[in-house]
Amino acid sequence: MDAREMKIKAAAAALEHVEDGMRLGIGTGSTAEEFVRLLAEKVAGGLKVEGVPTSERTARLCLELGVPLKSLDELPQLDLTIDGADEVDGRLRLIKGGGGALLREKIVAAASEKMIVIADESKVVETLGRFPLPIEINPFGQVSTCIAVEKAAERLGLTGAMTLRASGDGLFTTDGGHLILDASFGRIPDAEALAIALNTIPGVVEHGLFINLATLAIIAGPAGARVID
Ligand code: 5RP
Repeated sequence: MDAREMKIKAAAAALEHVEDGMRLGIGTGSTAEEFVRLLAEKVAGGLKVEGVPTSERTARLCLELGVPLKSLDELPQLDLTIDGADEVDGRLRLIKGGGGALLREKIVAAASEKMIVIADESKVVETLGRFPLPIEINPFGQVSTCIAVEKAAERLGLTGAMTLRASGDGLFTTDGGHLILDASFGRIPDAEALAIALNTIPGVVEHGLFINLATLAIIAGPAGARVID
């Protein structure tokens, strides 16, 4: 089974949790897009759902495929969000933001009763941190913010390269007009402490540590799908 087939398998298993009339948060990334494609088929077959997209990219795909969309302000409480992840550990803690959509993804997940993560086995880790942690920062005072992040991480014994994400010949900007700082700290033994430390830095808009948000992960591997709950 190749990587795409595994994403489709996880997405198909998640689709089984979608019920008629649900208000859905719809994630961002290649795995979430496989979910959108399968969801669109069900919608074409008569399933009634309303989706809140977590990025402009996801919104475009949903509109193209006929998945009905609403804004989060129109649907401020959601039944279920289905999204991918860059890493997931055995306690359903995640690193997200590889696609740069972490702020909206976190707001939408927090507004949802349940969040199902869809991923393949390559995303499962014992300790978070192999994937560089995306940190969304305000462009104003970006250098000061980077220094503050570095110092906060050092206090927790974390060091490593931090780079502002590039795109084309400039800096990547998120749907909210912010920058992404990718922090290669390596293993993050205390993800909760890092999350709290980052939350206290004014220029940090949000970070990719998703803690206590996912309720279930569907992990696809060559032999089939398994769940972490
Ligand atoms: C976007 C994300 C994605 O969910 C994450 O990067 C996983 O993407 P993919 O399914 O393409 O591996 O957090 O901000």
